[in-house]
Amino acid sequence: MQQVNIRFTSSGYVVRIGSNLLPRVGQETRAIARSPRAAVITDAGVAAHYLDPLLASLRGAGLQAEAAVVPAGEASKSLTQAGELYDRLLRARLDRGSVVVALGGGVVTDLAGFVAATYMRGIAWVAVSTTLLGQVDASVGGKTAVDHPRCKNLIGAFHQPSLVLADVSTLATLPDEEFRTGLAEVVKHAVIRDAQLFGLLETRPDPILGRDPDALEDVVARNVKIKADVIMADPHESGLRRILNYGHTVGHALESAAIEGSGKLGGAPVTHGRAVALGMMAEARIALARGLIGSAPVERQRQVLKRFGLPVQLEASVDLERCLALMQHDKKALAGRLRFVLPEAIGAVRDVDDVAEDEIRQALLSLTSD
Ligand SMILES: NC(=O)c1ccc[n+]([C@@H]2O[C@H](COP(=O)([O-])OP(=O)(O)OC[C@H]3O[C@@H](n4cnc5c(N)ncnc54)[C@H](O)[C@@H]3O)[C@@H](O)[C@H]2O)c1
Ligand SMILES: [Zn+2]
Repeated sequence: MQQVNIRFTSSGYVVRIGSNLLPRVGQETRAIARSPRAAVITDAGVAAHYLDPLLASLRGAGLQAEAAVVPAGEASKSLTQAGELYDRLLRARLDRGSVVVALGGGVVTDLAGFVAATYMRGIAWVAVSTTLLGQVDASVGGKTAVDHPRCKNLIGAFHQPSLVLADVSTLATLPDEEFRTGLAEVVKHAVIRDAQLFGLLETRPDPILGRDPDALEDVVARNVKIKADVIMADPHESGLRRILNYGHTVGHALESAAIEGSGKLGGAPVTHGRAVALGMMAEARIALARGLIGSAPVERQRQVLKRFGLPVQLEASVDLERCLALMQHDKKALAGRLRFVLPEAIGAVRDVDDVAEDEIRQALLSLTSD
């Protein structure tokens, strides 16, 4: 097992990464709780595999634990769902000293973290993360939110968990597409911050793709360290944390444009990871055209993404003009020029705020003819 400490000026918590961590959730939660009641919030897809052992661990540690199971999928990140959960917590008589345990991927940790942030003005929560994306990204950093019908993550709060457990054994049951989405974020972290991790992805992809527990523990721990460094330097997203947006300015726009259109991206149904992979390729091409980065590192990024089953070529059917319009609406747009995080080398990025629409158009076009 590995451990990463996250420290802020007045608080801190631990992220533990390893195999078979579920049985210890009870003892660890008991140590955090100031009352004997706890609630597990999870989704139906995760509950089928892991809810019973988790409840057994909590009850075994002497906690009165209730479970609330929401439907799997982004639609559960809503104020309506949060409202139902407040009812559940009240009926289970959770008080200010109780703990919410979030068991699931990013949807569950965002939702349960938000409910914990707002119930009785904020109670403690523990994140038990079960997706690769959750373990390397969503469960660390304290950003919690639900979606507004017109805007994802609009309603939220910064509320750090008291503990994060990334049990890599749970990744064995994760569907392939979900695993690949997590890998896209892993490649992102390597490109923005860690040439050594990138080298590992390049030279030893097989144990990762084969979900070897030791390889996963190593990769998740390296990623948590990267995310931890960034958020500790910038807990409220006022500066450095922006580098985590690499691939996401173009990626989000591509994701939305493809969902509005054919529903396909890079030849398969749209996922966040597929969009981010193409977003990273487009943003690396913008950097290449500006002379910020050479062609060799861009090609290395392309090969790693391909090896991980992520797309690097864009179908002509994606509406690029719609995609550009969506980007202009993005909150990062400044007077028609867009702000981007562009790579300068593997492991280093730069914040640039003067990218013109035509540079993005050319980069996207270059991906359609690859
Ligand atoms: N707070 C943050 O900093 C942050 C960062 C990145 C993403 N996010 C959010 O994360 C969400 C996406 O999270 P996600 O990609 O983890 O998706 P998810 O939570 O929807 O999980 C994906 C699917 O996999 C299933 N699943 C989860 N773990 C499983 C397991 N171990 N075995 C079998 N099935 C399993 C779930 O039931 C679900 O159907 C988005 O809402 C996004 O906004 C938040
Ligand atoms: Zn992402």
